[in-house]
Amino acid sequence: MDTIRYLKTEIELVANELKKGKVIAFPTDTVYGLGVVYDDEAALQRLKTAKGRPETKPIPTMAASSAQIEEVAIVDERSKKLIDAFMPGAFTLILPKQPSAPAYISNGMDTIAVRIPDDPFVLELLKQVGKPMLVTSANLSDQPAATTGIEALGQLDGRIDGIVMGASGASAASTILDVTKTEWQILRCGAVSEEQIEAVIGEKRKMRIALACDHGALEYKEILKKELPQEGYEVVDFGTYSHESCDYPDYIAKAAQAVAKGECDRGIVLCGTGIGASIAANKIKGIRCALCSESFSARLTREHNDSNILAMGQRVIGEEVMRDIVKTWLTTPFSQGERHKKRIAKLARLEQAD
Ligand code: RB5
Repeated sequence: MDTIRYLKTEIELVANELKKGKVIAFPTDTVYGLGVVYDDEAALQRLKTAKGRPETKPIPTMAASSAQIEEVAIVDERSKKLIDAFMPGAFTLILPKQPSAPAYISNGMDTIAVRIPDDPFVLELLKQVGKPMLVTSANLSDQPAATTGIEALGQLDGRIDGIVMGASGASAASTILDVTKTEWQILRCGAVSEEQIEAVIGEKRKMRIALACDHGALEYKEILKKELPQEGYEVVDFGTYSHESCDYPDYIAKAAQAVAKGECDRGIVLCGTGIGASIAANKIKGIRCALCSESFSARLTREHNDSNILAMGQRVIGEEVMRDIVKTWLTTPFSQGERHKKRIAKLARLEQAD
């Protein structure tokens, strides 16, 4: 097919083509976007084909206003406040999908990602189209995102109906905030900070901690399960729940997976020595588990390694030392030091080499 080149001034023409179900690329405030109207399944199918392979992840929705968001998502009072405060901007909300909106727009999921872009051209385009659009990055799957029309054409010329020539704003990635559960959760840190979100919502978010142990550390896990909520933490207990002999990888892996998937913010895992628990946790991609027997290491592993799981051994340390380590580890922030970030990125690359 011929990919028609448009100028930004031809916005009315582009909006009309989109309304007819055309797949068109255009510059946005982040990278080059490839969009279709949200309520045309055939157009969405053609967009996926153009990108080279079926997308398994749902494509985010772009809207021009809170009213447009409400066509596809349920907006409660808390979400409305967040929309008013941070949109348009580098801010994406995961909201419950509006039941009347078609299932294909969220790949069958009952949640949906929405954003109001901070870009006058895209906002005007959305207004003229008159409805939300599904917009993904204008590149072939597994290829780098494009920031200019020329780059996008390099990958998609002949595969899409049209392209609005120009350059994208290439602004920082958006913060992604999930508000579909009672406790809100930041899925990706970006331009909007946790403090800014807390200020708008008017409540501090509880840190959610995954707990797991084997039979050799049941007592310590139970102590933490009882005491951490009193300190303002939310706890998710992945077992074990009795003294019956069990295999530590089974329980530790569940807690580690919850942290890796972002369902829990951090994890604390225990066994007799803490060694088996730490080895098991570190087998899960994305986990940086530190085995600690004193609080000096607990502080440094947060500052240097940004460890997301703490392992301890019930047969190695006393109850008070355990409390001290946990307190230090939970309250010490990552230093954000560039040299530490670089090393952590190298750890992640080691996992990719697997
Ligand atoms: C269980 O007996 C024990 O092996 C386990 O708790 C742990 O110490 C393993 O590393």
